[in-house]
Amino acid sequence: MRIFLDTANIEQIRNAVKLGVISGVTTNPSLVSKEGTSDYESVVKTICGIVEGSVSAEVLAEDAKGMVEEGRVKASWAPNVVVKIPITTAGLEATSILSKEGIGVNVTLCFSANQALLAALAGATYISPFVGRLDDIGQDGMQVVKDIVEVYNHYKLPTQVIAASIRHPLHCLAAAKAGAHIATVPYNVLLQMVNHPLTDIGISRFLSDWKRVSR
Ligand code: E4P
Repeated sequence: MRIFLDTANIEQIRNAVKLGVISGVTTNPSLVSKEGTSDYESVVKTICGIVEGSVSAEVLAEDAKGMVEEGRVKASWAPNVVVKIPITTAGLEATSILSKEGIGVNVTLCFSANQALLAALAGATYISPFVGRLDDIGQDGMQVVKDIVEVYNHYKLPTQVIAASIRHPLHCLAAAKAGAHIATVPYNVLLQMVNHPLTDIGISRFLSDWKRVSR
């Protein structure tokens, strides 16, 4: 499973890229607004200068025509921009048009395997099931990821599954075990995946043992 960073924070992206484990970034309007700017274009262009892999930029239009127009503009910002489109009837129509033009589409706000099947049929490059938001309302978010992986594998559909709305490291492990192609993780979750108290204890024990003999 590959890891994308789920943020619009440039410092976090720079730090994560240095680790050599990030192969893409996902943004959404909430994440960009969290950075205190409405200049989505400049944020995405900056990210595309840091990250080689795909960078998802979400459309704000709600009708198919608007989504297509906005999608074409956003896709022109950089070669690695993927247009993020919500799964609605308008979203499917826009996905179908943009994917036929060779523009990558990440279909977002997916909460069921049926939605994911339709997104794949419309030509989506990625589907983003929102695990955490389903967990939040008492439904098993990871089960949706498992169902999508099963359906896609069954029919050899090429759309890649991005486990999204990831809240903690256990979500990442479960997504990897479920066969998700990618998990898009907030920066704090990435750090939680790296850190382990026994690693810290082990390092300080090695160092103190070494100091005893090297005095
Ligand atoms: C990523 O593509 C999604 O927009 C993001 O993971 C949503 O996460 P949230 O449910 O924590 O807002």
